Amino acid sequence: MARINSHYQKLTAGYLFPEIARRVAAFQEDNPKTSLIRLGIGDVTRPLPPAVVQALHEGVDRMSRRETFKGYGPEQGYEFLREAIADNDYRQRGVEVSPDEIFVSDGSKCDSGNIQEIFDADVKIAVTDPVYPVYVDTNVMAGRTGAADDKGRYAGLCYMPCTEERGFLPEIPREPVDLAYLCFPNNPTGGVASKEQLEKWVAYARSNDAIILFDAAYEGFITDPSIPHSIYEVEGARDVAIEFRSFSKTAGFTGTRCAFTVIPSSLAGKDDKGNSVSVRSLWNRRHSTKFNGASYPIQFGAAAVYSPEGKAQVREAIAYYMENARAIREGLSSAGFTVYGGVNAPYIWLKTPTGTSSWEFFDSLLTNVGVVGTPGSGFGPSGEGYFRLSAFAERADVGEAIERIRAKYSS
Ligand code: MLT
Repeated sequence: MARINSHYQKLTAGYLFPEIARRVAAFQEDNPKTSLIRLGIGDVTRPLPPAVVQALHEGVDRMSRRETFKGYGPEQGYEFLREAIADNDYRQRGVEVSPDEIFVSDGSKCDSGNIQEIFDADVKIAVTDPVYPVYVDTNVMAGRTGAADDKGRYAGLCYMPCTEERGFLPEIPREPVDLAYLCFPNNPTGGVASKEQLEKWVAYARSNDAIILFDAAYEGFITDPSIPHSIYEVEGARDVAIEFRSFSKTAGFTGTRCAFTVIPSSLAGKDDKGNSVSVRSLWNRRHSTKFNGASYPIQFGAAAVYSPEGKAQVREAIAYYMENARAIREGLSSAGFTVYGGVNAPYIWLKTPTGTSSWEFFDSLLTNVGVVGTPGSGFGPSGEGYFRLSAFAERADVGEAIERIRAKYSS
């Protein structure tokens, strides 16, 4: 019999969101009359921006005509999309990223999960706690950790607790690490890092030969103009950081799938003889071996995000979700909850009522008021006692959820 990759057996539980979906489905089966409001997984509810829809149609039409038909595209993504990204997401913010440093893909979850495989099995990894589970689980699967302890912390990982006292920001590791995963605006806490804070990280990475894996999937939700949208807004970051971006949350692409990763040409790792190796070339090698590119119509649709109409429509959708975030924040705090996030991010991070664990609060909300959220402890031990609500929902559902929560839990 074929031996399996036994590192998978170290994974403590099923992936968080399918696990929640399983519990919700079981509840719904037993309680078919309860109308559930889903503020759990951060999944968009608004339809695609009309400019994108029009471009998707045009992309498909082009595939139907001999003269414009496309077969395999460049694995790195079509030049028209990489140019639009480099110009709009970077040049116009005063950041130099060349189209050759951009790799288009079908999602940031895949990219942030796959990136670890171009690094050695022995690299030391730092992750925040709480954390987007993909960063941890993919390193567990790759055998970079030992077993999990009773709190769910894997041996061998450097955890950076993001506690309330620290404003949910990670403390820079005291020990040297090789790779540090950062996510700002943060999933799940909704916290953001200032330019000064990111400068400290870049200085740490530069002096420790570390690489920062910077997940900026939620940058479109930043409202405070002083908060950086890209790690490359920090001087020197091009030599030490990889950035992940996505169209999922900003342009409603969770079901359409398109994202990109930036790997600057100056970013280097070293081989086992100590020679410097371009990380970009390794990722290019991996990408062109294991991936055939996002489809042409999807990339054509994604490029429409950067048209004047596309930009206005994306801004409108983001404003819609951020108004939900405001309503959740204010509604819950007036009901007596302590709430964080929801100002520069679409996630609200709240403290569970005293003495109630994250999963107990999950069950309580589900069974008492039919509202689905995400238990903070699902993101790591420091998330225990917290709970995440997503602002990706329809306005009426948000209003109804707040009403139900206030009626049941107001202090
Ligand atoms: C979340 O709810 O944390 C996200 O939707 C997960 C993801 O983007 O994969």
